[in-house]
Amino acid sequence: MTINPASLPQSQLVAGMKCRVCGKQWPVSTTNFCEDDFGPLEVDYHYDKIKPLVSRQLFESRPNNMWRWKEFLPLNGEPTVGLHVGGTPLVRATRLGKAIGIDNLWIKNDAVNYPTLSFKDRVVAVALSKAMEFGLKTVGCASTGNLANSVAANAASVGLKSYILVPSDLERAKILGTTIYGANVIAVRGTYDEVNRLCTQIAFHHGWGFVNINLRPFYAEGSKTMGYEIAQQLGWRTPKNVVSPMAGGALIGKICKGFNELANAGLIEIPNTSYFGAQASGCNPISGSVKENRERHKPVRKPDTICKSLAIGDPADGYFAAKLIRESGGWAEDVPDTEIRECMALLAGTEGIFAETAGGVTVAVARKLVLQGKIKKNEETVLCITGNGLKTQDAVAEILPAPALINPQLQEFQALLTDGAPPVRQTEPALA
Ligand SMILES: Cc1ncc(COP(=O)(O)O)c(C=O)c1O
Ligand SMILES: [Zn+2]
Repeated sequence: MTINPASLPQSQLVAGMKCRVCGKQWPVSTTNFCEDDFGPLEVDYHYDKIKPLVSRQLFESRPNNMWRWKEFLPLNGEPTVGLHVGGTPLVRATRLGKAIGIDNLWIKNDAVNYPTLSFKDRVVAVALSKAMEFGLKTVGCASTGNLANSVAANAASVGLKSYILVPSDLERAKILGTTIYGANVIAVRGTYDEVNRLCTQIAFHHGWGFVNINLRPFYAEGSKTMGYEIAQQLGWRTPKNVVSPMAGGALIGKICKGFNELANAGLIEIPNTSYFGAQASGCNPISGSVKENRERHKPVRKPDTICKSLAIGDPADGYFAAKLIRESGGWAEDVPDTEIRECMALLAGTEGIFAETAGGVTVAVARKLVLQGKIKKNEETVLCITGNGLKTQDAVAEILPAPALINPQLQEFQALLTDGAPPVRQTEPALA
């Protein structure tokens, strides 16, 4: 299914594709693995050509979205999909910091990314713009939910046909939030890893562009933009610590790659950042391998957690994520569902940010790392909040009180105040 790239006007700034195992260079194509050793391919750039072209002023003069960093992204021409993605806020998190014991805390809030409220809009913008360059007409993905939403929406916005395959036990909001865009949504009886294997067969059988399979090298590059934005928003420097949720394990590594590229281009100091990975205890292949000091992760055959977005038992980038975490002086941890729920409410109640379950994982893991002494109170720390809580409301429904129910009379309202009681759960049906 490989498309011959010879007919394409190859970007002057992209050197080609490089095997992450043996380092061999391959031409740009829709093949995602090295034919010598099946190692994953990564986009490689002519950094010597990029460096003289870029400056802080250039990037700052452009609209505040992910494409201001286009010299570091693997397109031949201008983007055609996801033109408004990125440029999300970096929020000072003093109140959350106080609650979890970090004096110098920030939140990179990709829960408000455009158009589908997760960081996956970044990866999809690159993958689908690349799919358009390859002339593909049909795209798809294997997804734990957020990628499904984003591929469906962004494909619809440019008239690409999409096939989205998900585990059948996904949250209702994530399914509806995919189907609404007119995507072909297929729920598969099986785990994400089984869905992913099926998608690999479909992609190669039909020659379609599956964003996280045969388009994965381009897709993954989109996550670097989260790193560029964090550095710029901090005033062109990097924090001491980054805490990132991990599913396939790509995001955490790409934030690091983004920081390093800015440093290599002379735009920031050499980073001294430690990377901390966050997972749910019910699906913790990467944090497990870090904690047990194993080079290769043990796949989790049957993930069991409310955090479905991170429930990848056999992560494609697990090895690289664990290596980065170790080598940067970071660590990885995982937390049970009770803490995930609790920390979704903690983040919302302290910072006014309603994140999905993955956000609860990130906050709970950060809190645990502080208690373990792995993150110090005074170290500047950025938490990556990557998805929106409106998509996973059921996760917290049980732990939140229903509103107090009264008749429209002042005395009934006053009675609530004088009782001093917080709103209590009512047996009557929910308010209309
Ligand atoms: C909300 C959210 N956060 C984080 C991740 C992890 O990203 P990666 O697969 O690059 O590790 C995902 C992946 O699905 C996600 O949906
Ligand atoms: Zn190789």
